Amino acid sequence: MSVDNASIESVLKETRTFDPPATFAEQANIRSEEQYNEMWQRAKDDPASFWGELATEHLHWFKPFDSVMEGKMPETNWFSGGKTNVSYNCLDRHLETDRRNKAALIWEGEPGDTRVLRYQDLHREVCRFANVLKKLGVETGDRVTLYMPMIPELTIAMLACARIGAVHSIIFGGFSADAVADRNNDAQARIVVTADGGWRRGKEVQLKAAVDAAMDKSPTVEKVVVVKRTGGDVDMVPDRDFWWHDLVEGVSAECDAVELDAEHPLFILYTSGSTGKPKGVLHTTAGYLLGATMTSQWVFDLREDDTYWCTADIGWITGHSYITYGPLSNGASVVMYEGGPNWPDEGRFWEIVEKYQVSIFYTAPTAIRAFIKWGRQWPEKHDLSSIRLLGTVGEPINPEAWMWYHEVIGQERCPIVDTWWQTETGGIMISPLPGITPTKPGSCARPLPGVVPDIVTKDGTSLEANQGGLLVMRQPWPHMLRTLHGDHDRFVSTYFSEIDGCYFAGDGARRDEDGYIWVMGRVDDVINVSGHRLSTMEVESALVSHELVAESAVVGFPHDLKGEGICCFVTLKDGSGDDELVKVLVKHVREQIGALATPDKIRFAAGLPKTRSGKIMRRLLRDIAAGRESVQDTTTLEDLSVLAALRNDEE
Ligand code: WTA
Repeated sequence: MSVDNASIESVLKETRTFDPPATFAEQANIRSEEQYNEMWQRAKDDPASFWGELATEHLHWFKPFDSVMEGKMPETNWFSGGKTNVSYNCLDRHLETDRRNKAALIWEGEPGDTRVLRYQDLHREVCRFANVLKKLGVETGDRVTLYMPMIPELTIAMLACARIGAVHSIIFGGFSADAVADRNNDAQARIVVTADGGWRRGKEVQLKAAVDAAMDKSPTVEKVVVVKRTGGDVDMVPDRDFWWHDLVEGVSAECDAVELDAEHPLFILYTSGSTGKPKGVLHTTAGYLLGATMTSQWVFDLREDDTYWCTADIGWITGHSYITYGPLSNGASVVMYEGGPNWPDEGRFWEIVEKYQVSIFYTAPTAIRAFIKWGRQWPEKHDLSSIRLLGTVGEPINPEAWMWYHEVIGQERCPIVDTWWQTETGGIMISPLPGITPTKPGSCARPLPGVVPDIVTKDGTSLEANQGGLLVMRQPWPHMLRTLHGDHDRFVSTYFSEIDGCYFAGDGARRDEDGYIWVMGRVDDVINVSGHRLSTMEVESALVSHELVAESAVVGFPHDLKGEGICCFVTLKDGSGDDELVKVLVKHVREQIGALATPDKIRFAAGLPKTRSGKIMRRLLRDIAAGRESVQDTTTLEDLSVLAALRNDEE
C-alpha cells in the first residue's frame, strides 16, 4: 500500500458484537449513549468550551489560562497564559487527600523482589531526585536521556524532570548504543540516567555498557547517573559517572514544582518514520496531561479502588501516557513489572494479576498471540476474577486473538477496549467506552470526545461506509504533538501536507455502517513488529553499513506472533551469501539498532526490483516475502527478470 494508491481493499468481515455488561454500565464514568453523543457533538462544535471546562475541573493550575486554543492546526496553542506542572498534578495535589497514603506504584522485579511506593513516598523520591538534577546543573528546558529498565527510578526520574521543567527523552532499553548516541545527539541531551542493567528472562540486559559505548559519540552529554539494579560489574568514569544512591543521599525531600507555561515541552520521544532518521515527537505540558488524564478516565473507567496494570514498557508512548502520566494524574494504583512475561514460566503475568488483584489489564495483540501459543493452561492456573476491564493497543487485533482474550482472560465478563492511537496523538483517540459501546472483535469502535476522524482518499474526499482509505483527523486536540524536535518543517510536511487541512500519520482504515472504525495498518514503509513501529529504511541503512552489502530492501511479512516480521532482501558487492553471512548480518543489525530489529529472514538477491526512476518496488517484495502470488501492477518495473529470479529462489 502506498499513499498514492489510497484505495485499500478490506477483506475482514466480522459480524459478532458484544454488549457491555449491565453492571458495568451502571457505574461507568460515561454511562449512556446520550451522554457520549452530547459530549462528542459539543467537543466538535465548541472545542474551546469543552476542553476549557475539563482543564479547569481536572487539572491544577498555579495560574489559570487566558484562552483555551489559539491558531489553526498544526500551529494550535493550548491554554495560553496558564501555569501548571505535570509532576505537581501527578503527586502534590493527591497529598492533600486520602490518596497520600494510597499505593501509587506497586512494583515487581523479574527476580520477584517488590516495592510499593505510596503517593507520599513517590513524591519524596521525586523531590529528592529533582534536587539531584538541579545540583548536576540541569535547568528548565534542558534535555535528559532516560535509558533504564522498568524500575521505580524510571518513573521517579520522569516526574523529577517534569518537576523542574527538564525535557525527558526516554530510550527503550532494547535499543543499541548507536541508537542511544543518535538520540542523545538529536536531543542535545546533557545528562543520561541509566542503570547497571535490568532483568529480562533471567539475563542481565547491560545498559551501562551500552551507555559507555554511546558516550564516545555523544559530545553534549556531561554526566551519567547510574541506578544499581543488578549489581553487575560496571565501569564508572570519575567525574562523569555517579551512582544514583550516592547522589540522593542526604538530599532534601523538598523541591517546589516549577510553575511552567502550559506549552512548556514535557518530553521528546523518538519514533520511526518512513524516511531518514527517527522523529523526535515533542509533547508539551498542559494539553498532553489533560489528554492523558481524561482518556484514562473515559477509557479505563478508573475508580479509586482499581489496581491498574499496563504491561507496556515506559520506553514507548503507551508507558508514558498509561503507566505514568494518565493513571498518576488520576491518583490510581499502578502495577509496574520489570521483566519478561514467560519468566520463570509462562504463567508470570497471571500470577501477578492474582497476587495484586489487578482489575484493569492493558496489553498488546502481540502479547495476546504469545499467550495463545503458550496455551490456556497458564492463565487457568490462576484466579483472574479481579479483572473487570481489558484493553489492547499497538496494532490491529485479529478477531481470533480478541475472542481468546475475551473468553480466557476476560472469562466473558469483561469489556475489551481496543484503543487506537499513536506516539504523535499522545493519548487514546478511538476506542470503545467500556460502559456503553457494544464491541466488535477487531474494531476500535468510535472516536472519543474531541476527536474528529475521517476516512478519505488522497485528495481529501470523505469515503462512504466500508470503503478503505486514509485515516485522518479533521480537528486539533490538546494532546497532539507540537513539533518534531529540531525540525518543524519535517513536522508540517510529514503530518499535515499529505491531506489538505488534516492530520495524517500513516494508517489505512474503513468505517462500517454503524460508524465503527476498523484500522487496517500502516500505508507507508513502516512495519509494526510486536506493536513497535520500525522504519524499514533504518533496517536498510543498518544492512548497507556492512562492508559486504551493496543494497538492501526491507519489508514486513505476516508473522504469527509478532504481527509483522522483518524480511531483508540483500544484494552483495561481491560473491554470494551463505548461512554464515546471514548470521553475521543479523548480528550487525542488532548491534546497529537493537534486538527489536532482529531480521527474521535474510535473502540474498542478484538485483532488487526497481522502477525506471530507480525506486525499489517494495510492494512486490512484500508479496514475495509473504509467499503470495502477486497481483500487483508490474508495468513500471524496469527489469522483470529480477522478479522472476527472486521468485525462483523461494524455498
Ligand atoms: C498501530 C502506539 C490498530 C497503528 C500507541 C498506529 C493500532 C501505530 C492500534 C502507532 C489499534 C496502534 N488498532 N492499529 N488499536 N493501536 N496501532 O506510535 O498503525 O508506537 O499508527 O503508538 O500503531 O504506533 P505507536
